[in-house]
Amino acid sequence: MPLNLPFINRRDPKPEAETEIDTTNIPKHIAIIMDGNGRWAKDKGLPRIAGHKEGMDVVKKVVRHASDLGVEVLTLYAFSTENWKRPKKEVDFLMKLPVDFLQTYLPELVENNIRVQTIGTKDLLPKHTQKAVDEAIHRTENNSGMVLNFALNYGSRNEIVEVTRMLASKVEEGELAADSITEETFNSYLYTSHLCEPDLLIRTSGEQRLSNFLLWQLAYAEFWFTEVYWPSFTEYTLNEAIINYQNRKRRYGGV
Ligand code: FPP
Repeated sequence: MPLNLPFINRRDPKPEAETEIDTTNIPKHIAIIMDGNGRWAKDKGLPRIAGHKEGMDVVKKVVRHASDLGVEVLTLYAFSTENWKRPKKEVDFLMKLPVDFLQTYLPELVENNIRVQTIGTKDLLPKHTQKAVDEAIHRTENNSGMVLNFALNYGSRNEIVEVTRMLASKVEEGELAADSITEETFNSYLYTSHLCEPDLLIRTSGEQRLSNFLLWQLAYAEFWFTEVYWPSFTEYTLNEAIINYQNRKRRYGGV
């Protein structure tokens, strides 16, 4: 019987494992806002980029664990459209992370049948980042296991505006009747149209906001926040989030 854990109010979770996951009720799609890399580094007297580097290693652990649990889609907010405002050195480092990650981890992703995909405006990423990501997408495109979906240069408002523009131009050209547009029509033009909606949204580091992440797609997701900084996130923290999710009553507006 899964335990109902309260809001986790500590920075460094210890692997206390008296909890149990109900393996018949794993969220199909988990979306994560990986926050707190900079503060983790600062606490340790390290430069911010050390937090991002550690955060990348945590991504590897979490991907492995989510895939082992049978999660179908894991969407990770790796770089937002607003993150370009950071100092150039930090942006350059963040843009190298997918390259490093895939150089060291792509063989394991291939072996574990994981499929890499992205959401966001990929064309505006530096060429080396695009190249690494495109190669990973290509080399894993026939895999049938978990979708590892990186949100890279992603902003939800921008996504919604782009869909609106596309639909408006179809209406203007007489290809589409305005009153035939439904939620399904709109959904079918989103980056995530081929994926199931997120069931669980996790944000680390104590912040409790969406920061322009999947605003449409998260309409019925369960939210789980933890004080843990992303570089301190472990398989156990993911278990806690899932166990908490498993104790929610999802009513989708019904009773
Ligand atoms: C937010 O923490 C984190 C980011 C903007 C970057 C997230 C990236 C990773 C965790 C690595 C991604 C790995 C791959 C493979 C792409 P912050 O810097 O805003 O932290 P702070 O709020 O404490 O300053």
